[in-house]
Amino acid sequence: MTVSDVRKCLFPVAGMGTRFLPATKEIPKEMLPLIDRPLIQYGVEEAVRSGCGEIVFVTGRGKRAIEDYFDRSIELEQILIEKGKADSARLVREISQMADFAYVRQPEPLGLGHAVLCGEPFCRGCYFGVILPDDVMVTPPGTPPVLGQLVQVHQRLGGSVVALEEVPPEETFRYGIIRGKQVEDGVFRIEDLVEKPEPGSEPSRHAVMGRYVLSPGIFRHLRNSGFGAGGEIQLTDAIRSLAEDEPVWGVMYKGERFDCGTMESWLRATLGMALKREDLRGIVLSELERLGVTGR
Ligand code: UTP
Repeated sequence: MTVSDVRKCLFPVAGMGTRFLPATKEIPKEMLPLIDRPLIQYGVEEAVRSGCGEIVFVTGRGKRAIEDYFDRSIELEQILIEKGKADSARLVREISQMADFAYVRQPEPLGLGHAVLCGEPFCRGCYFGVILPDDVMVTPPGTPPVLGQLVQVHQRLGGSVVALEEVPPEETFRYGIIRGKQVEDGVFRIEDLVEKPEPGSEPSRHAVMGRYVLSPGIFRHLRNSGFGAGGEIQLTDAIRSLAEDEPVWGVMYKGERFDCGTMESWLRATLGMALKREDLRGIVLSELERLGVTGR
């Protein structure tokens, strides 16, 4: 297959968000706000800025709010216009115009790999991006978005690409960890991939984070990989077997990751993002001062 542009991005959003209960009992985790936007919007903006004009959500039960959010809301726009709030009306309309949106259901939460497999009808025959929206990625001005960094490597070297981050040794057991050969600065050819290795057995400290450019060949490997750990189809298993057939590169991405998957990490992300924003930094600092918070 020749090197192609990556126009589609898959968002697996059918998970149950159990680590964030009870907040996620009725609200999809992806719709929780981070400052002024739902988490999912950061991911969609990243995909669009990376060149993906087609967004495919793999949704499940209780995720209608995501569909409604990216749909046009004519009544709300009308009311805002009647109230003289044209700027707000434009803001609301622009959300539905960011990209073309498509939805496919994952009938049961049978794992991330299964969710990606559910997206096959939309991504057959082309390289496509995958974003896990729990991880919000922020890049410095002038640096491409993280998915865009992966797309650049794909365009240069062909093949599939995953985002890597170096994690402390005591945290490797939480992630998929690669063994690979460095081919250029910050780029590895992946030779093996272990999901949540036993402490001490990790092949490196390079952990896979939630951004991927995948070859359509992944679908065959997902179908063949069967139900692994926890009775789920694991994306990691399929990428490992894909790497035996086709090149899979790991890229140490440039940027900052805000994990929003649990209450504690979401709180850190909210504070971290607020401190980065000119208009909010002062509010956080003066509130901490008012509360007499000076340290632990
Ligand atoms: P997580 O491992 O974070 O699972 O999934 P989760 O269900 O969202 O959250 P917890 O662990 O119960 O708190 C990683 C990504 O894969 C998606 C999730 O929506 C999330 O974006 N996913 C996971 C699916 O789409 N389907 C699944 O069966 C599992």
